[in-house]
Amino acid sequence: THIITSPCIGTKDQACTEVCPVECIYDAGEMYLIHPDECIDCGACVPACPVSAIFPEEDVPAGEESFIARNHEFFGA
Ligand code: SF4
Ligand code: F3S
Repeated sequence: THIITSPCIGTKDQACTEVCPVECIYDAGEMYLIHPDECIDCGACVPACPVSAIFPEEDVPAGEESFIARNHEFFGA
């Protein structure tokens, strides 16, 4: 799956939602989050985000690891 990290907070640009072919990016209040069971890892959302908030789960940067659990737990996944 792909993971949305802290730069989305306060930005919520939503460009990612427009390019996702399976519509697995959901409004989660202060940020958007990706449903890990629905994401097909196509990568389309990564360059679409103007604040570079999205990463493949295995490439989430240091200090942003807590967002891995946040993306999973929001969906109970
Ligand atoms: Fe959607 Fe592809 Fe991004 Fe997954 S990697 S959230 S399927 S655009
Ligand atoms: Fe957030 Fe970037 Fe999408 S700011 S809503 S992850 S385009």
